[in-house]
Amino acid sequence: MNKAILRFLAGMVCFWLGISVSQAAGDSAAGKKKFYTCEGCHSVAGYTNTYPTYHVPRIGGQHADYVVSALKAYREDERKHGSMKSNVDNLSEQDMEDIAAYVSKFRGMNSSLPVTGDIQAGRTKAAMCASCHAEDGNSENNMFPRLAGQYESYLLRALHDYKSGARANPMMMGFASTLSEQDMKDVAAFYSSQKKGLTIPQD
Ligand code: HEC
Ligand code: HEC
Repeated sequence: MNKAILRFLAGMVCFWLGISVSQAAGDSAAGKKKFYTCEGCHSVAGYTNTYPTYHVPRIGGQHADYVVSALKAYREDERKHGSMKSNVDNLSEQDMEDIAAYVSKFRGMNSSLPVTGDIQAGRTKAAMCASCHAEDGNSENNMFPRLAGQYESYLLRALHDYKSGARANPMMMGFASTLSEQDMKDVAAFYSSQKKGLTIPQD
């Protein structure tokens, strides 16, 4: 191959990489503004959903890619929640990327939360979850949501929803179906009590 062709190919690769990088990265300053309508629920410590009662999830420090995929799941009705649906309906792809860039930067700022389940039992039972969510729930892989520092009541809610099929994710439905009610309470307590995890996005 002659040098001109090689240079051309190298240029194409850089061009392509440049495009994929710029597509992946949201603008966190723009995201902060767009997050305004979300703050009333997601930036208030200990805020709960009205009915059924469980904590509004902590999304500060969550992987940006997972945040985008969760928002799309509400838009596509794969996850059902009235106010989340109406909040995402008007968001463009860029809005979602920007918001995800903003919330994901609040990394590991909280300490662990008080829990009701059995943390030690949960630690043992969570061993089979570690390959994806990491041992302490602080997965570094974008594909797998962080669980450390998440509210216990929300984790429990999510596991119930996978087990009942209300939240249809084939992978997690399989894992949740192996857990008893007590197992769910214990693993939720374990992840919730882990440090350096999720927090509330608040400047
Ligand atoms: C009225 C309160 C409320 C408002 C406003 C709201 N949310 Fe939510 N949000 C919730 C609740 C409750 C859930 C959990 C729903 C469920 O069980 O699936 C949730 C779930 C989420 C999740 C999924 C978290 C996870 O771990 O899977 C993301 C991401 C999210 N919201 C982002 C946003 C964004 C971005 C906005 C603004 C555009 C917003 N929310 C506005 C209450 C709210
Ligand atoms: C093979 C990989 C894998 C394993 C093993 C796994 N998970 Fe997951 N988990 C995922 C993926 C992917 C998601 C996101 C699914 C979605 O978008 O709903 C998820 C989501 C979750 C959520 C919801 C998080 C949120 O913010 O809403 C909880 C809770 C959870 N997993 C707990 C567990 C527990 C407990 C175990 C072990 C019993 C486990 N997972 C094992 C891949 C895995």
